[in-house]
Formats: sequence, structure tokens, C-alpha cells
Amino acid sequence: MSFKTTAVIFLLATQSNIVSASPVSTGSHSGSGKLVKVPGGFLPIAKVHAIPPGGTIVHTADVTQLLDVDGSVLHSATRRANATFSKPILSHTAFAASKEPTEAIPGRNQKRSLLSASVSALWEAPSVYSFISRWTVPLLPQQGHQVLRYYTALVPPSADAIIQPVLQYGTTAAGGGQFWSISSWYLDYSSGTAYFTNATRLPSTQGTQYLSPFVINNDEFGGTPSLPHAWYFGFEYWQTQTGVNLYTTEDYRYVYVSLEVTNATNIVELPSEEPTILDNIVIGTTSEGGYASSIPWSIQNDEEDGVSILIASSSGAGGGGALDIRYTS
Ligand SMILES: *[C@@H]1O[C@H](CO)[C@@H](O)[C@H](O)[C@H]1NC(C)=O
Ligand SMILES: *[C@@H]1O[C@H](CO)[C@@H](O)[C@H](O)[C@H]1NC(C)=O
Ligand SMILES: *[C@@H]1O[C@H](CO)[C@@H](O)[C@H](O)[C@H]1NC(C)=O
Repeated sequence: MSFKTTAVIFLLATQSNIVSASPVSTGSHSGSGKLVKVPGGFLPIAKVHAIPPGGTIVHTADVTQLLDVDGSVLHSATRRANATFSKPILSHTAFAASKEPTEAIPGRNQKRSLLSASVSALWEAPSVYSFISRWTVPLLPQQGHQVLRYYTALVPPSADAIIQPVLQYGTTAAGGGQFWSISSWYLDYSSGTAYFTNATRLPSTQGTQYLSPFVINNDEFGGTPSLPHAWYFGFEYWQTQTGVNLYTTEDYRYVYVSLEVTNATNIVELPSEEPTILDNIVIGTTSEGGYASSIPWSIQNDEEDGVSILIASSSGAGGGGALDIRYTS
């Protein structure tokens, strides 16, 4: 399965200019069999769930549950042998090998196939206790039907799931529209379900706007023998809207930064006027507050589409790390 299939989550038949209503609630009017596109395939809309404010996700080896703030179970999904959507590719060798020659991808023989483009940076850390960074919110791109998702994720070695605070332009199952919005996602490939917090529109500001996604490990206080790993993720200053508690059996120690572009037709539908910067990257690797002094990122670029990710600084300590996403015409 192509790395390209880690595409954007979005509704196939979304009216992208409906900005206030969540497409999930809109979609429920047209029947329960509706499919939404998720990375690597499609899911029935019934498998894609909104996380309530203060909600919790519990992912054991056998079952994934969404809990309301009072602890009641809203949804429960069991592990299946064959998931309907594919995992992201994560091993270093598979990651490098997944760069397919252009001619091998049907419909992608031409430059600028921005209908499905992505760039990413990956690091297999020994362990992750915190992953904090800062996006400079890009200028608004030219309006189209594109969906852009910038995210800073953690993934377990099995690649069965992904913790994903997302900066988004366009409309996805979480909502959004032709503006920048944020939401937290958890994709569970093992049970074929996806979870999101409703997209929150970022206010328009005159000056430069910064946004700090975070994933924090809380094993020490939140872990139990059966669910040793406790996580809290979202965006700083937007925790009411985006904060999600997660309990897992697996450890999440692959650090993954990506831009996924879906359904763009031209480079101007990307914020191509200047590089998009993720900086202040700090990756805590020990419970005692130790940090990676240097991060040996594996990079996957998308040269034929003119999108690339560059290591501006591989530092992992003191907020010195930075990645730049560049767009060339
Ligand atoms: C993709 O873009 C085209 C126009 O370029 C639009 O008609 C279509 O609805 C879009 N698809 C999605 C899923 O947004
Ligand atoms: C998400 O937004 C939709 C549409 O606005 C709303 O119906 C739903 O209650 C919201 N869900 C949560 C969990 O806030
Ligand atoms: C699951 O995948 C295996 C291996 O690809 C296949 O043999 C089997 O038929 C699949 N099972 C279902 C229920 O699709």
C-alpha cells in the first residue's frame, strides 16, 4: 500500500463552504451507510466519532472505547483482523522504500498531483514523554476545495493507531471550512474507527499567529498495570476544545510530523508564499526530564508535487528544533 494513501480525512461529498455545521451531523441526514475518507481508505460514518469536551479514549489490546466526561461509554469497538484502512508506514527502511517512482503511481504521471500529496518527517525515539512544538499559522491560501492537514503525531511500533493534533484548512469530518481550524484526532487502525474533537476556528489576527500542539505522557500518575500508558494531547491555550485523554497498552514512541494535501488543484491552494514553520520542537525522552539533544529525522519529500520538508535544526532540546515545509511553483 502506497505511503500516499495516508491521505486526508475528509467527507467525499462535503459542501466545503458549510462552515458552521459538522459534516458528521450533516451526513447523518443522508443515511448511516455514508463513507468518509480516512488515511488509507474509507470508513462508514458510524465509525467516526466526535470526542466530547473532557472525553477520554481507552485503547486496550482488544477494544477501543470512547468515554464521556463522566466515564460512561459512548462507543466501543473491537480489534479486527482486517482493518478497512491501512496503517501509516513507519519503519525506517519501509519509510525510505515507500518513495515510489512517479511512473508507478496511476494518475500521477504529471507534476502537480496535489489531489493527494504529502511530506513527512519521522523519528523512532527510544521513548517519548513529551512532544511539544509550535506552528506559525500560515497565510490563508487561495480558496478552492482543498484540505490541508498539518500535524505533529505519535505512533506506536505496531502503527495500529495515531495521536494527531491537527492544524487544518478546509472541511473534514471534524468540521472546518475555508479558514484555519484545529482539532485533535485519534485514528485506530486496529478497530477501524476514528475519533476527533470538533474543529475550532482560529480567530483572524493582524499579526503572526502561533499555535502549540502537544502530546504529554502521564504514565507515572495515570498508568495502570493493564493500561500502562497515559497520554494527554491537544493544543496549548485551546485545551477545553482540543484536549483529549488517552490510555493505551502500547507505548507511542514514533514521532511523526506531516502535511497532507488532498484535493488541491494548484500550488496557490497551498500557503505557498512563504515556508510553513514548525519550530520550538522539544521531545522529552525520559520521565526525569531528559531530552533528545539531536533528532535524526527521516524525511519524505514530494518533489514532483513541489512540496518538501527541510530540517532547519535537528536539535531536540531547549526548543531549538525546527522543520520548514516549502512549496515551489
Ligand atoms: C474536490 O474539488 C472539486 C473541484 O476542484 C470539487 O468539485 C469536489 O467537491 C472536491 N471534493 C471534495 C471531496 O471536497
Ligand atoms: C460537534 O459539532 C456538531 C455540529 O455543530 C454538534 O452537533 C455536536 O454536538 C458537536 N459535538 C461535540 C462533542 O461537541
Ligand atoms: C483477512 O485477511 C486475510 C489475509 O489477507 C484474508 O485471507 C481473509 O480472508 C481476510 N478476512 C476477512 C474477513 O476479510
